[in-house]
Amino acid sequence: MLKLQSIVNKLCINSRATQPCIPLSHIIKTGTLTAANFTTSSSNSMADVAGLRINYDPKNPFDLKSLAAKDPMGLFKHWFEEARGCEQIIEPNAMTIATSNSKGIPSARMVLLKGFDTDCFKFYTNYESRKAKDIAENNNVALMFYWEPLHKSVRVEGIAEKLSEAESTEYFKSRPHGSQLGACVSHQSTPISSHQDLLDKWEELKKKHPDADHPIDKPDFWGGIRIIPNTVEFWQGQSSRLHKRVKFTKGTPEEVHPDLVTQGDNGWTYHLLSS
Ligand SMILES: Cc1cc2nc3c(=O)[nH]c(=O)nc-3n(C[C@H](O)[C@H](O)[C@H](O)COP(=O)(O)O)c2cc1C
Repeated sequence: MLKLQSIVNKLCINSRATQPCIPLSHIIKTGTLTAANFTTSSSNSMADVAGLRINYDPKNPFDLKSLAAKDPMGLFKHWFEEARGCEQIIEPNAMTIATSNSKGIPSARMVLLKGFDTDCFKFYTNYESRKAKDIAENNNVALMFYWEPLHKSVRVEGIAEKLSEAESTEYFKSRPHGSQLGACVSHQSTPISSHQDLLDKWEELKKKHPDADHPIDKPDFWGGIRIIPNTVEFWQGQSSRLHKRVKFTKGTPEEVHPDLVTQGDNGWTYHLLSS
């Protein structure tokens, strides 16, 4: 238990917090997280995994009558700010993006959200990567955020498209110099003989562009992607396993009985889902 506490203390050294989320002492005292959950002995690891279970104890439950916004991007903003203020969440903008190619073969990976506005989510990547190739073949994608200490997740489905060159270039210029070099030398997702080769290429390019006074142009194969959502689901864990779910749909969902659908803002409707 002490070891666990010290690990979490290290994670919590973070000045972003503007408001506390669930304190670790509470989690441990209430038994939602126990040392037993962290047993890693190989002899009984299968049993340990099956036994991993926490009781969600949300401090901020929501229901249809008290939604902070009646369109998903507005509600996302509220939830994201809460995650950003939670000192236990180190990368609140980490999200999974799932893509699938023209054969329907899916793949998922983590990326960092780098912006969102009233109609889209944005991230940056290599346009020759697997995810970008998938999107070129099939622009239907899904995003997933999970903010574990808050027992909240957001699930998005939508259409992906490239950002303009101008917007990608502007963002590229704002990146740390080392990250700019990294984007230039790495042909993401291509097989390589060794990691050292990548480091050597990075060092070589750094000789030509030693610092920010020797700027480097954004390569054509790197840029941003935005996802325009057509559904966004907000999930709040509850102690009873009867979790709360509200799903926003752009327009009216044909598969849902009209009596269950509420009109939201900006052309969105929303309805509850069973957990
Ligand atoms: C927390 C985290 C954040 C990441 N952020 C990005 C990102 O913003 N853009 C990106 O291209 N890859 C990012 N990666 C790496 C991707 O997960 C992945 O390895 C890479 O994009 C290649 O994926 P692909 O071959 O499926 O295209 C991140 C990985 C992690 C674990």
